[in-house]
Amino acid sequence: MTINLLAIESSCDDTSASVIQNGIILSNVTANQEVHAKYGGVVPELASRKHQQNIVPVVDQALKKAGITTSDLNGIAFTKGPGLLGSLIVGVSFAKSLAMSLEIPMIEVHHMHAHVLALFAKDPKPKFPLLCLTVSGGHTQIVLVKDYLDMEVVGSTIDDAAGEAFDKTGKILGLPYPAGPHIDKLAQLGEPKYTFTEPNIEGLNFSFSGLKTSILYFLQKKMKEDPSFVENEKANICASVQERIISILLNKLQKASLQYNIKEIGIAGGVSANSGLRQSLKNLGKDLGWNTYIPEFQFCTDNAGMIAIAGYQKFLKSEFSDQTVQATARLHF
Ligand code: KG4
Ligand code: ZN
Repeated sequence: MTINLLAIESSCDDTSASVIQNGIILSNVTANQEVHAKYGGVVPELASRKHQQNIVPVVDQALKKAGITTSDLNGIAFTKGPGLLGSLIVGVSFAKSLAMSLEIPMIEVHHMHAHVLALFAKDPKPKFPLLCLTVSGGHTQIVLVKDYLDMEVVGSTIDDAAGEAFDKTGKILGLPYPAGPHIDKLAQLGEPKYTFTEPNIEGLNFSFSGLKTSILYFLQKKMKEDPSFVENEKANICASVQERIISILLNKLQKASLQYNIKEIGIAGGVSANSGLRQSLKNLGKDLGWNTYIPEFQFCTDNAGMIAIAGYQKFLKSEFSDQTVQATARLHF
């Protein structure tokens, strides 16, 4: 029997739809919302309005690309949370209406579980158990993944997320939002010649707020001496900050690998699109004999393909939601 699922992701500022057939992703269409860039961050009210505008055309494209129609669908997966409530509500309401009209089941998906399962979008797939470092704009987690639907957070940030560290540094440097990709590009043109201290945080947890403060103080001091310091040194500053963020992340990942004796290691989430992090993970993995897994770019940042993978696994176990399901901004892992 052929199982076709449609998946919807609308937790933040990307509207995305995907079709998965018997566990294989046939389409993954994402509409980014440029509207937030000029505000220096996501404006929730504008995000909801854009989702409402984008969701039908995005779903339509995803179905067309997959070569199916709504009558071929066997279920609809959607992001229940965590995320911006107004944004989530658009996706959840859409999924409910379509599921009701087609009389097919709905499958709720946890956004952070889905980021991890993006590791299974393409071959070669990791083997269980594995460790996944999930790094996004809102979360930084080391996840022990025992099976598709059996995972546990074993380390997380006590303050800012890694993506926030990139975005807040970018704000200080006058880069557009989201700054992660801009810092990534600039870092490739510079040298990590400035040293920012690595915080000493217990266990497998992370902290990034101290880094942001030390960058701010460092730049204030340098700008007093030379007002064109940021302009002249932008690439070197970006390379230095990026290198520190990467070392904070990978040192903890290495610690987790030793602690759990696991050498199947993946990275996921928006920050896993960072070219420095991708390369450093590959290098470290080679040195330590890890099998490393890094999703394609389209499955790193928010996308419905990852929701589809999670939805398919839940569909196989008949884990369905009923029409009373609600979008939930703060959703337990
Ligand atoms: O997973 P994601 O798309 O959305 C959330 O669920 O948060 O992650 C967005 C985050 C932003 O902080 C963005 O700056 C960061 O991912 N990001 C990057 C890169 N591409 C996106 N950070 C560093 N380097 C990149 N190339
Ligand atoms: Zn995300």
